[in-house]
Amino acid sequence: MMPSMTAELEECRRLLAARNPADALARVDGLLTAGPGPLAAREVRLECLMALGRFEMAHELAAGILATDPGNAVAERHRLVLEHALRKPDLGAPAPGLRPFHSEVPREVLLRIQQAVHHYTYRRLQMVKDPFSLALYPMLLGALRPRTIIEIGSKAGGSALWFGDLLASLHIDGHVHSIDVIPVTDVQQANVTFHQGNGRRLEQSLSAQFLATCARPLLVVEDADHTRETSLAVLEFFHPHLRAGEYIVIEDGILSDLYPQIFPDCSSGPHVALRDFLSRRGSDYVIDPAYCDFFGYNATWASNGFLRKIA
Ligand SMILES: C[S@@+](CC[C@H](N)C(=O)[O-])C[C@H]1O[C@@H](n2cnc3c(N)ncnc32)[C@H](O)[C@@H]1O
Repeated sequence: MMPSMTAELEECRRLLAARNPADALARVDGLLTAGPGPLAAREVRLECLMALGRFEMAHELAAGILATDPGNAVAERHRLVLEHALRKPDLGAPAPGLRPFHSEVPREVLLRIQQAVHHYTYRRLQMVKDPFSLALYPMLLGALRPRTIIEIGSKAGGSALWFGDLLASLHIDGHVHSIDVIPVTDVQQANVTFHQGNGRRLEQSLSAQFLATCARPLLVVEDADHTRETSLAVLEFFHPHLRAGEYIVIEDGILSDLYPQIFPDCSSGPHVALRDFLSRRGSDYVIDPAYCDFFGYNATWASNGFLRKIA
């Protein structure tokens, strides 16, 4: 190696040690303009990419270094860490029928999150959503691109506004209809309408003509009183209207795991309703692991509750 390169790499290492990986990368890249360059420079580049959080590029570079120098200790150390960290969890294919209702999130973690859930706000309005849902719904909306969202249970209107904002930010020309026995009257947004209605008697709020003509795809979010009666009524009401590929999300089955003394053997209202509904109509739906299990098995308040209609 040229003495000037040795000095330059020393400077890169000094920058790295001083926690300045961006400048270290710029300098080392100056040495690697033509071809792969000497091993020492590539190792420094690898350290820079790791420190910057550019893990996919680091993984590729580690593999490249190991291809030329199979025993390279620096590359092997990072490759091992990255191989594990970057592996996409295997969620398995959605299977028709029932599956265990428990969540693998430890109960003490669920209980601590639940305390915060009731104090979460969006645009200064209460929004009763767990952090898993906050991450999962944007993915679902991005994939499904629903043009109509029907929410049962508005409370302060925070979640309806959030869904409306998500539609807008995803450039989806869609509309949110949010229904509650006590309707929201003090929140206005162009792509959100609040309605008075009861999840147990939705035919009084949503006419067959409205459902036949509303823009598709449709996403239904059931987040009302979490009784078996309401969850089941909502599932049964929407069953004939949902089309293949559309989703109905039944929230808060997690109450089974939060309060097993009240809901032993996964007997929260949403869980009992899901079990009942799927035992009769299971061949028409799958519980979608892409959402239920994204962060871990049933790591969501809507445990076993992301249903995709398949028929
Ligand atoms: C859990 S909160 C909804 C939270 C809201 N979706 C959010 O994420 O911020 C439940 C709401 O459902 C409403 N509700 C309870 N039973 C209902 C029913 N049978 N039909 C419609 N709404 C109901 C309550 O008035 C309450 O506002």
